[in-house]
Amino acid sequence: MLNNKSILITGGTGSFGHKFTETIIKNYTPRKVVIFSRDELKQFEMQQLFNQKCMRYFIGDVRDKDRLLMAMNDIDYVIHAAALKQVPAAEYNPTECIKTNVQGAENVIHAALYNHVEKVIALSTDKAANPINLYGATKLCSDKLFVAANNFAGTKKTIFSVVRYGNVVGSRGSVVPLFKKFIEKKKDSLPITDPKMTRFWITLQEGVDFVIKNFSRMSGGEIYVPKIPSVKITDLASAMAPALPQKIIGIRPGEKLHEVMCPSDDSHLTVEFEDHYVIFPSIQFRGTTRDKTINNVGEKGSPVRQGFEYNSGTNPHFLSSKEIIGYNKK
Ligand SMILES: NC(=O)c1ccc[n+]([C@@H]2O[C@H](COP(=O)([O-])OP(=O)(O)OC[C@H]3O[C@@H](n4cnc5c(N)ncnc54)[C@H](OP(=O)(O)O)[C@@H]3O)[C@@H](O)[C@H]2O)c1
Repeated sequence: MLNNKSILITGGTGSFGHKFTETIIKNYTPRKVVIFSRDELKQFEMQQLFNQKCMRYFIGDVRDKDRLLMAMNDIDYVIHAAALKQVPAAEYNPTECIKTNVQGAENVIHAALYNHVEKVIALSTDKAANPINLYGATKLCSDKLFVAANNFAGTKKTIFSVVRYGNVVGSRGSVVPLFKKFIEKKKDSLPITDPKMTRFWITLQEGVDFVIKNFSRMSGGEIYVPKIPSVKITDLASAMAPALPQKIIGIRPGEKLHEVMCPSDDSHLTVEFEDHYVIFPSIQFRGTTRDKTINNVGEKGSPVRQGFEYNSGTNPHFLSSKEIIGYNKK
């Protein structure tokens, strides 16, 4: 799938970009891998890890359309991972978050169309489903832009899809590194926002593998959601520090008790496959109808029941303490 392809990753120096680059260098022979991001130090550090002949490092900001237009010359596939993703920072700096996550998405779409890129996958988050914080709302706008971009494509061949998943275990600013810090500093308790809180749980490698698979599955306009386990935050705390008491600190601004990946209002658009769901667009592209229950690689699915919601609180698959420890080590 990725052999001999020229691939650009916006936000390529981030957690996803590192794991994606490591994976494709190991398993494929891409013609070119372009890392597109702003900070020269992160790029310098990444170059020490990945300096293969196919690697290219482009300093650029997704807010800068001209730079994206240049960077996407001769690119086959784009993964749009660049984002501002800290919930509190987005609440305090809404315009900055909109510029990167919404206007940046628009610029990526324009540059991809202009350069006749074949396929674009944009990364989304469970926070974009029924959003209650600005980060989630900007990612929902971004999802809508990428889905609708299949309409602008007109006679151009570019197709756009979205991959939406939940908490990446151990990613920057997430709860596992926070708990680790408390444990290392020998604090007398772990902070728990609410004892009922649950989250979807995915490893970086699982996220990367899911994105790669969807390059083969996509026809354009789909939101791909992997079936992944949930974790109760109190189970996570007990698994990481069985002897430490848990201190309830209350839910924070912009936080939900449970996350949603497939909203019930989209149930009429959602098809279940063996290991994932697909939310199809409510609009039709290029005047075509298609069979939504079979994808490009021959996998068969069936429509979910009316009102179905994929929610971290009602997910049938929760991780046990032992499994949580295993996940944290991945
Ligand atoms: N981590 C999670 O738990 C999680 C869960 C679900 C979905 N996601 C989504 O997955 C994607 C990747 O997340 P991640 O964990 O890899 O994030 P990350 O580690 O914070 O990396 C974000 C990357 O984006 C770059 N960036 C930020 N603003 C930019 C801009 N204006 N122009 C160009 N590059 C910019 C950053 O580098 P510079 O600062 O150097 O530019 C960095 O390389 C995001 O879209 C996020 O919404 C993440």
